[in-house]
Amino acid sequence: MRTIHVAVAGLGFVGRETVRLLRANRERFRGRLGADVELAAVADRDVHREARRLGLPVSVLRVRDPRRLASLPGIDIVVEVLGGLDAPRALALSSLKTGRHLVTANKRLLSHCWDELRRAAARGSARLYFEASVAGGIPVLQALDNGFAANRIEAVYGILNGTTNYILSSLEHAGPGATMQSALAQAQAAGFAEKDPTMDLSGEDSVQKVSVLASLLTGRALPPGRIARQGITGIERQDIDFALGTLSRTPRLLGVLRLDWGKTVRLEAHVFPTLVPLEHPLAAVRRQYNAVMVKASHADDLMFYGKGAGPGPTASAVVGDVFMLCRDILGAAPSKPRPPVKVELIPVSESVSPYYLRLFAQDKPGVLAKIAAALGRRGISIASIHQSDVPAKDGVPIVLTTHPAKLGAFKAALREILGLGSVARRHTMLRMLP
Ligand SMILES: NC(=O)c1ccc[n+]([C@@H]2O[C@H](COP(=O)([O-])OP(=O)(O)OC[C@H]3O[C@@H](n4cnc5c(N)ncnc54)[C@H](OP(=O)(O)O)[C@@H]3O)[C@@H](O)[C@H]2O)c1
Repeated sequence: MRTIHVAVAGLGFVGRETVRLLRANRERFRGRLGADVELAAVADRDVHREARRLGLPVSVLRVRDPRRLASLPGIDIVVEVLGGLDAPRALALSSLKTGRHLVTANKRLLSHCWDELRRAAARGSARLYFEASVAGGIPVLQALDNGFAANRIEAVYGILNGTTNYILSSLEHAGPGATMQSALAQAQAAGFAEKDPTMDLSGEDSVQKVSVLASLLTGRALPPGRIARQGITGIERQDIDFALGTLSRTPRLLGVLRLDWGKTVRLEAHVFPTLVPLEHPLAAVRRQYNAVMVKASHADDLMFYGKGAGPGPTASAVVGDVFMLCRDILGAAPSKPRPPVKVELIPVSESVSPYYLRLFAQDKPGVLAKIAAALGRRGISIASIHQSDVPAKDGVPIVLTTHPAKLGAFKAALREILGLGSVARRHTMLRMLP
């Protein structure tokens, strides 16, 4: 019986669980594959301590430097769960170039080094699988790559970051004292948010996932720097309360990818906090859960829901990739990555959405007319206006919603509105899901 040798780099949260799952599923995989899948080597700074804790037999080679895994003879699959960029990049490139297949959970590596990785994989005739890098335990990449083989994917969008979803959803109907900061502290205490949550709150984490999705679907790198983003830090508690109470909506941080398939694929890609109608399935996604909506030409609308992070869900996706690679290795004709298509990235200023805008204005005649005129001049029509009679520090709060408009036109109108002497600079602007 053939034995497929696997090496795991990184014995942190995900790596340890990956090792446990690989070992626990040996018999099952042997039954399904007709081959043995054997853990042959592990790498970590603290490799001896971690290997001891995991109860690994002495036959499993232990190394401190992960780069060594790429030169060990007989390794078929390298699993990279180190985190960071430099060490994973070095390991991934040398593994792929020398014909070792690679599994990674590292969205940062994929989104920044897509072309390099693809070239290295082509050079070594090796395969690269990365299910865990987007939406953790949800097997959405395998579905997009294989399950929808008969479809054109027209849109992929959803909640790709558990930390921001935990914060936003826990502020729905929360007590009067709850704020973004207190919700973040709660998420950190529960282990759902990093000590430094900047990547999550700024939208960068979701941007990297959108980048991976775009690159997978088009075969072309879409670096994170080309994806427009807005994080959640500008949202105030009042926005959430107002959206829920008056608009029957709730904010979610949405990563969006739309693909218009022609000779050239016209691609829309961005990450924005967005007010979602309460009856939309994404509004029911709470706490640290993720959800990915897919619109496919023939399968139509689908939703994938589950845990986007955590050792169990992430290792489940990693080991699923190992299993698929074993099938590729054992199969006569493993599937090939998509050939790259021509891609044109639509400028984000062209993307169309209805908008929510909360402003603070002086309570005097003519202000509302000036605001409406600034929007009207750009062809943007107002869907609703709500004015509070309780003045706040910066003036009277006014919330308006618009019909769908181009972002560029809306931002131009907003600049004019904020330049009116009677309107404060403080404001919240959110997209709304139609
Ligand atoms: N945790 C999740 O829920 C989750 C979800 C989706 C994707 N991921 C991805 O999975 C990967 C691993 O995440 P994790 O949470 O398991 O991270 P982690 O707990 O920090 O584990 C990484 C392990 O690798 C070791 N390591 C890192 N660089 C090394 C180097 N150059 N040489 C030797 N050892 C090194 C670390 O040692 P030190 O601690 O000494 O640095 C640590 O033991 C990341 O790419 C992450 O983005 C994680």
